[in-house]
Amino acid sequence: MTDVYPSIDTEAEPALIVKGYHERTKHHFDRFASHLGYMDWATQPDPFRRFEGAAEMPLVLGDDDGTPAYDKLYQPGAIPPQPVTAQSIGHLFYYSMAVSGWKQVQSTRWAVRVNPSSGNLHPTESYLLVADVKGVSDEPCLFHYAPKAHLLEKRATFDGGVWAGLTESLPPGAFFVALSSIFWRESWKYGERAYRYCQLDLGHALGALRLAAALLGWRLWALPTVNDGQLAKLMGVDRDDAWHKDEPEAPDLLIVVTPRGETPNVAGYRPPDELFDQAAAGQWFGRANRLSRDHHPWDAINIVEATCRTTAEGLSGLALAQTQIATNDAASSIMPGPCALSAGRILRQRRSGLEMDGVTGMNRDRFYALLARLVPALCPVPWDAVTWSVLTHLGLFVHRVEGLAPGLYVLVRDAAALDKLRAAMHGEFLWQRPQGCPQPLDLYFLKEGNCQRLAARISCDQTLAGNGVFSLGMFVAFDRALAMCGAPIYRHLYWETGVIGQVLYLEAEAAGLRGTGIGCFFDDPVHEAFGLTDTAFQSFYHFAVGGPVEDSRIASQPAYPDHDSR
Ligand SMILES: Cc1cc2nc3c(=O)[nH]c(=O)nc-3n(C[C@H](O)[C@H](O)[C@H](O)COP(=O)(O)O)c2cc1C
Repeated sequence: MTDVYPSIDTEAEPALIVKGYHERTKHHFDRFASHLGYMDWATQPDPFRRFEGAAEMPLVLGDDDGTPAYDKLYQPGAIPPQPVTAQSIGHLFYYSMAVSGWKQVQSTRWAVRVNPSSGNLHPTESYLLVADVKGVSDEPCLFHYAPKAHLLEKRATFDGGVWAGLTESLPPGAFFVALSSIFWRESWKYGERAYRYCQLDLGHALGALRLAAALLGWRLWALPTVNDGQLAKLMGVDRDDAWHKDEPEAPDLLIVVTPRGETPNVAGYRPPDELFDQAAAGQWFGRANRLSRDHHPWDAINIVEATCRTTAEGLSGLALAQTQIATNDAASSIMPGPCALSAGRILRQRRSGLEMDGVTGMNRDRFYALLARLVPALCPVPWDAVTWSVLTHLGLFVHRVEGLAPGLYVLVRDAAALDKLRAAMHGEFLWQRPQGCPQPLDLYFLKEGNCQRLAARISCDQTLAGNGVFSLGMFVAFDRALAMCGAPIYRHLYWETGVIGQVLYLEAEAAGLRGTGIGCFFDDPVHEAFGLTDTAFQSFYHFAVGGPVEDSRIASQPAYPDHDSR
């Protein structure tokens, strides 16, 4: 069969290979990105990684209603730091990466988790690296987190020198979480576009972890200066026992948790290569389970993965010149009133709306407050964890915000980008400040009109994008990012948009609404709606917020009914 998709020039420079992949995996009105075209149920991957033979350490569950108020998550210092114990480690995962319930229709039963995932396929795996935490480990240890049973699997022990080297430049008490992606879990269903979805899911996981850390009074920071080769050695994902040959698990991100809230020197965090070699020479336990009995290869994913890998100093240079982050929760001054629900409840009740009701609206001030939580200069959390330049802005389709004209709007998340966005978009846009919009929020009204059909059409005809209160596209400064830091920034841009999605999910819950991440959209028609004609800005992710329509055929069951370590 002839390949109708634009080819990727693998001889080109890395940034152009990334552009080639991005172009090739766009959905168009007349053609979806290359995928199998049917669901091959016989090869459906297991969503739960386990390491057979590794020692297990059960974790405790949390008491959702006993946790602090939701709004406090966004105010560093508002929640007293908890000591690092077996219990608080259990809570870190319980409020970020754990199972949050089971769903059932007739004989089909599936788990849903605190972190969302495209197609509920869950490519993201999480690991914990600690030393000397009572009830967890009295030596430097790497654990894999197993969400189905909510337990840690001991994957490796390291020499004390490895730990000393890794933590020497960090605040006392610091420990690590590491994230990886298994592309096969997503490509099984979504084919070549799956690499994008894996990165979005990873961003959601980063956001979920940052907010779970906030619940414990801790802070958490991405460490993008550790390169992928180093991270692979530390996580063991380059080992023969780490995965089946057609189910590679790619190292993505090392994260440092500072439980007393100190700020580490992220840009200067550069442990020497020898430390990672020493970690690889540690004692390793267990063998990864096989996820599928057969596989379909997707070359485009292998190509973009190899191109985006970080080497040498990891992500560096201008990418680490961070956009200004608020030192306090300035967004709270925009809040009409605090949310009555506890943080634990909101984090664990988060769900995706399957459809929106086409009726429910939202108060204008609440809408402004929700948007303020997405702006790093107004709200420090979770944006302090995103330790690279903020390069994403929002193009909004507003349908049912009381007191606001329906139509197109734009939220500029970094004021420095305003002129570039304005120059890139339709010349006839109004660029007016909407009524009652608080001064620090860079929101602009572009064009009046009912855009419900447009929003649904460009979101792969998913009606929830038009039936909600609003939907949006996340416009990334694509050319600028690639020119500034080359191919490796591609993943980081997706991670940033994933974090935005995570905050939108939670803010929707806090406003009594529901959110849905939208990975399926027709790329260029979205750009055309806003007048974007080149690759200066590209839409990486969509999202809808609205009043949900529940499907009464789906039964809900608790996450861990038999768990006895409460
Ligand atoms: C990156 C991403 C893309 C998604 N894309 C879509 C989409 O296009 N349409 C949709 O209905 N849901 C979409 N979802 C929602 C997922 O299907 C949902 O997260 C998953 O089924 C798990 O359900 P939960 O969010 O209720 O835990 C997406 C979620 C993520 C994280």
